[in-house]
Amino acid sequence: MGTHSIFHTNFNVTKRSLICFILGFLCIDAAYPNCGGNEDLKGTVDYQAINCRKHSASLADFGGKGDGKTSNTAVFKAAIANLSKVASDGGAQLVVSPGRWLTGSFSLISHFTLYLHKDAVLLASQEESDYLLIDPLPSYGRGRDAAGKRFQSLIFGNNLTDVIVTGGNGTIEGQGEIWWKKFKSGQLHNTRPYLIEILYSNQLQISDLTLKNSPSWHVHPTYCRDVIIERLTILAPIDSPNTDGINPDSCTNTRIRDSYVVSGDDCIAVKSGWDQYGIKFGMPTQHLSIRKFTCISPDSAVIALGSEMSGGIQDVRAEEIYAINSQSGVRIKTAPGRGAYVKDIYVRNMTMNTMKYAFWMTGAYGSHPDEGYDPKAIPVINNINYMEITGKNVTIVGNLAGIEGHPFTGICMNDVIIELAKKKIKKSIFFGEIKPKKLPWNCTDISGTSNNVSPTPCGLLQDKKVKCSFPADKLDIDNVELKTCSV
Ligand SMILES: *[C@@H]1O[C@H](CO)[C@@H](O)[C@H](O)[C@H]1NC(C)=O
Ligand SMILES: *[C@@H]1O[C@H](CO)[C@@H](O)[C@H](O)[C@H]1NC(C)=O
Ligand SMILES: *[C@@H]1O[C@H](CO)[C@@H](O)[C@H](O)[C@H]1NC(C)=O
Ligand SMILES: *[C@@H]1O[C@H](CO)[C@@H](O)[C@H](O)[C@H]1NC(C)=O
Ligand SMILES: *[C@@H]1O[C@H](CO)[C@@H](O)[C@H](O)[C@H]1NC(C)=O
Ligand SMILES: *[C@@H]1O[C@H](CO)[C@@H](O)[C@H](O)[C@H]1NC(C)=O
Repeated sequence: MGTHSIFHTNFNVTKRSLICFILGFLCIDAAYPNCGGNEDLKGTVDYQAINCRKHSASLADFGGKGDGKTSNTAVFKAAIANLSKVASDGGAQLVVSPGRWLTGSFSLISHFTLYLHKDAVLLASQEESDYLLIDPLPSYGRGRDAAGKRFQSLIFGNNLTDVIVTGGNGTIEGQGEIWWKKFKSGQLHNTRPYLIEILYSNQLQISDLTLKNSPSWHVHPTYCRDVIIERLTILAPIDSPNTDGINPDSCTNTRIRDSYVVSGDDCIAVKSGWDQYGIKFGMPTQHLSIRKFTCISPDSAVIALGSEMSGGIQDVRAEEIYAINSQSGVRIKTAPGRGAYVKDIYVRNMTMNTMKYAFWMTGAYGSHPDEGYDPKAIPVINNINYMEITGKNVTIVGNLAGIEGHPFTGICMNDVIIELAKKKIKKSIFFGEIKPKKLPWNCTDISGTSNNVSPTPCGLLQDKKVKCSFPADKLDIDNVELKTCSV
């Protein structure tokens, strides 16, 4: 699929272990002490990664303190600067051992792995001064919270190749409450930091971590290629503002697997820039595969496509999706002014329990970056496939609204069985029992087909007995096998 992912081995793990074994404490990695250090006394821990590293060091080697109080920002920066010297010699892994490690924002480098031990917690500083102010993204033209600058994410990366953030399910705690309060009370002059944001990079892995309480979005790969996001647990209060789980933004070749998100906003939001800025930047999100994903999002979508989609969204494949207590399933959000397209979307085997809407499409999502948007830039929505979908306790099956005069086309539904919520029967002393009127579907400005869909769909989705499509091939990123590395 026009991809070029080469996840090459930098160093053979087995060979490395053998050298360490033979040399014992005189290990060739003496400058990076973890190789003969504490972990080895208790045995090594294995983890899965796109690449293993030749060198290893522990944050504590650089004077870090995991007491939950001492700031480690400078220590992270020094450690990473030191390890950048071996980036071209097999790369390095920086291990964060058990403890609570307070830190502000820091930046990653190429050929580098940040590894959080299972009992390691990175605590995000709550001081604004611990986050650099950086420019808005070119495809957005401004920050989302305020017209000014953006606070750099806690873990940041720019222009990198081969970078990994992983662990034995260690935790990154965003301590977002203070930011949520400032946002809600209009006290922010700049846009909140994300937890992890990586820009203009390729061969990126974020996996085997618990991410909590980000000030805003949790994981934001932007303008990236070859992205692997796996085995993440993302937890934020269901009333916290904009705490989206995973937001692939203008990325090509991404896989999201085996992850679980509970959040105050969309569990996954697929994006590609905002109105005239996104149209000009012109970088789509494409070739995205999502599998084995579970979501709880009472006020938002399991997977949102948009609303910022002005670089286009194409070829999204979602399978084995489980949604509980969420507002909507796979939702399309757009508006005149966005331009571009959302097309070739495939959803198969999705199970939903307790939903407001099983299907929701909105062609009037509003919210523009400024007055400079072009209301004639009409997004094209086409070839949207939903198949093998079940839902229970659903309030409204489909609320599907395109744009007047520019309908959303090629919407296909196959084998969709939705059970509506049992309506509460109101008792009236005058009229006896009143059953509320059911409105399972509300369709405007859309067209498409249905086949074996219950309850009977709206007339705009004609029953044509056609099969919806799902690509038979796999994406290259689906075929990438992770290596077993050790700490
Ligand atoms: C940084 O790297 C050099 C090797 O270039 C090494 O000698 C030195 O010990 C390292 N510093 C620390 C604090 O580990
Ligand atoms: C990106 O990194 C490469 C090499 O790592 C460097 O040559 C280039 O100047 C960098 N580009 C930007 C925009 O920083
Ligand atoms: C990771 O930790 C979270 C939070 O404690 C837990 O819910 C989740 O099950 C753990 N995941 C794995 C794979 O152990
Ligand atoms: C459908 O998804 C569920 C998980 O939600 C999985 O257990 C099941 O095997 C999947 N069925 C097919 C046919 O892939
Ligand atoms: C059905 O959904 C409602 C909320 O819409 C919830 O209060 C109720 O517990 C759900 N019932 C079941 C059986 O899940
Ligand atoms: C149906 O959808 C149209 C268009 O979005 C909206 O104006 C209308 O209020 C909806 N009807 C109901 C009963 O929700």
